Amino acid sequence: MSTEYYLGLMSGTSADAIDLAIVDFHQNKSELIGSHSLPLTPEIRHQIHSLTIPGHNEIDRLGQLDCQLAELFALAISQLLGKLGLNPQQIMAIGSHGQTIRHRPPGNRDASFTLQIGDPNIIAERTGITTVADFRRRDMAAGGQGAPLVPAFHHAVFQSTSVDRVVINIGGMANVTWLPKSGKTLGFDTGPGNVLMDVWILKHLGKAYDTNGDWAASGTPDSELLLQLLSHEFFSQLPPKSTGREAFNLEWLSSMLKHKTLHAADVQATLLQLTAHSIVKDIKKLATEECEIYVCGGGAYNLNLMTELALQLPQSKVATTEELGVAPEWIEAMAFAWLARQTMMRKAGNLSAVTGANREIILGGIYFAS
Ligand SMILES: Nc1ncnc2c1ncn2[C@@H]1O[C@H](COP(=O)(O)OP(=O)(O)O)[C@@H](O)[C@H]1O
Ligand SMILES: [Mg+2]
Repeated sequence: MSTEYYLGLMSGTSADAIDLAIVDFHQNKSELIGSHSLPLTPEIRHQIHSLTIPGHNEIDRLGQLDCQLAELFALAISQLLGKLGLNPQQIMAIGSHGQTIRHRPPGNRDASFTLQIGDPNIIAERTGITTVADFRRRDMAAGGQGAPLVPAFHHAVFQSTSVDRVVINIGGMANVTWLPKSGKTLGFDTGPGNVLMDVWILKHLGKAYDTNGDWAASGTPDSELLLQLLSHEFFSQLPPKSTGREAFNLEWLSSMLKHKTLHAADVQATLLQLTAHSIVKDIKKLATEECEIYVCGGGAYNLNLMTELALQLPQSKVATTEELGVAPEWIEAMAFAWLARQTMMRKAGNLSAVTGANREIILGGIYFAS
């Protein structure tokens, strides 16, 4: 065969859209063949967000959303195949991350578990394509955080033998991957990416996100609030570590703002600083000064955030993954195409130095097409 197509499907903590990428891995390349994004409606986003915190009648709501999301995943897949003129038999497998509705990694007070929904039985049945899903729980069963999983893919495609690199993925949460030219790949979540800026602008301006970070740029960061936000216990935890909406959400932010009278735009400016500071602090601990830094995820389109990162990392080259030939918004979906291939080839998908698992292991469950 002259092609080896896998389809990666990602719906991240932002719950903004279902992102899909078809990647050709033939002869060890990772070529993006086509991509598609199906936006999630505000109604579905609301249902997802309301399941990320404990509430009433969770099992019924979860069961319904599990099926509803899977139908949407299958619809998005058929749209992409139609767009590219491909038939299901040309896709070796789908890698579906699913929608995280709870992530409680080990090391916290509560019992640890992680839950991604969007029933893979339905995806396989509707599409006629073998579907790999539920990647995170095997890593957690082996003592890991179940996250982040993208560093292994970053290593496979972006590692260089001549220069040290860092990849920063700024989705709802942010994670970094350290790719030294020689030595061990490391990676972990650094804290909030866009999530707090998103919830704050939604509350005050009714917008889903702060385009280019323009609203943040119109305000002045408050240094006292920034210090207070940075005192969240997650920032002082040592890796391996991962986080989610359970830790960083509007309720937490509101509690930090009690008894303060700040302009909403100044809070937004401070939240942008929080994302930048927490990422930069961790990069400085990990990386060499002369390393190259590549940003992916939706946060790469926040120009003011990109400017701030470059300002705080003056010795390093800071760019988006576009410079490496891959548009920032497709990297995570591509990673799940890669993870599906690892599973189908019976290869490990996690890096134990990243997740803290006691071994590198084949991830996910396989739902065969027939
Ligand atoms: N033009 C833009 N300006 C500022 N922020 C943006 C822009 N485009 C996308 N984003 C941010 O990226 C987020 C989506 O990023 P994504 O990588 O899909 O995250 P996730 O994996 O959590 O779904 C949006 O919620 C928004 O905050
Ligand atoms: Mg997204």
